[in-house]
Amino acid sequence: MALFAQDKNLAMELVRSAEAAVMASGRWFGLGDKNEVDRAAVEAMRYVLHGVDMKGVVVIGEGEKDEAPMLFNGEEVGTGEGPEVDIAVDPIDGTRLMAQGQDGAISVIAAAPRGSMFSPDNLFYLNKIVTGPEAAGYIDIQAPVEFNVRIVAKAKGKKIEETTVVMLDRPRNNEILQRVRKMGARVRLIGDGDVAGALMTSLPGHETADILLGIGGSPEAVITACAMKCLDANMQCQPYFRNDDDEARAKERGLTRDTVLTIDDLVKGDNVFFAAAGGSDGDLLRGVHYHGAHIETNSLCMRSSSGTIRFISATHSQKKLEEMGGNIAYDPSVKEELGL
Ligand code: FBP
Repeated sequence: MALFAQDKNLAMELVRSAEAAVMASGRWFGLGDKNEVDRAAVEAMRYVLHGVDMKGVVVIGEGEKDEAPMLFNGEEVGTGEGPEVDIAVDPIDGTRLMAQGQDGAISVIAAAPRGSMFSPDNLFYLNKIVTGPEAAGYIDIQAPVEFNVRIVAKAKGKKIEETTVVMLDRPRNNEILQRVRKMGARVRLIGDGDVAGALMTSLPGHETADILLGIGGSPEAVITACAMKCLDANMQCQPYFRNDDDEARAKERGLTRDTVLTIDDLVKGDNVFFAAAGGSDGDLLRGVHYHGAHIETNSLCMRSSSGTIRFISATHSQKKLEEMGGNIAYDPSVKEELGL
């Protein structure tokens, strides 16, 4: 491969849509309205995506499970010029965190060549295991939780009591939680946002956990897999059914509770792009902040083929965004109300 490949890094474009999503939804920070957080993020993300040179189709639109506003599956995004890609979005992962004014909400988006992403359809949840590059080759979701925690600790040269497991705080994860605690491993329980949880195991300079375990959303799993590909990390999943109906519908697609979905099943190939922006403050990224004349965003973008990871701190001029007609984050009616 040429040292300076001339192909485009789509993640550098996608990151602008994540920035727009947090700038818009950040207006709803702490106001208690999950739906408005989502709506603002979705609208802003969609607006920016339409200007990106690509033939994108939304494969992971998220939101169905929670009946939240969403970029719908099958929706075409982009200018129609450029690469044909699958798009996976979660305009705000951690909508509840954002609405409650809590830390850890991020906006995420991923792209990969058309046809390469797993479509969860009505498989809403997956049991997940994620770890960073050092232990990537050792995890096995079919093995007991204890095996996975031990092997990750060993691969990273840590004692069990120095190993941190991150997991979503949910009753359905209680059994795993008790087993991990019994082993003496450290546990980081997160209220929401297991894409961020997975990044905590693998993002260089921001590793605050060693392994993510437990059941979380399937759309988020595909987005996570894209991020993990860019980080040379690993992920495996198995279907989790809430009830017989879930199980029967998955069976029609040949998925049982024993099916193992590897990172390559979740997203094929090595031409994957990922971008994220901080919504509320978090370990990974500072959130969006409004400083009067300008808005501050902090984001990251990466691509799997080169392994480049970029952290981007940006300031956005409120005035100029407004003049360009693209400032969805800025509501001119407020200006009118105040007679300015
Ligand atoms: P959203 O904010 O996009 O709704 O997702 C938050 C989240 O915590 C995900 O990170 C996680 O995968 C999923 O919800 C878990 O689902 P549930 O809240 O139904 O347990």
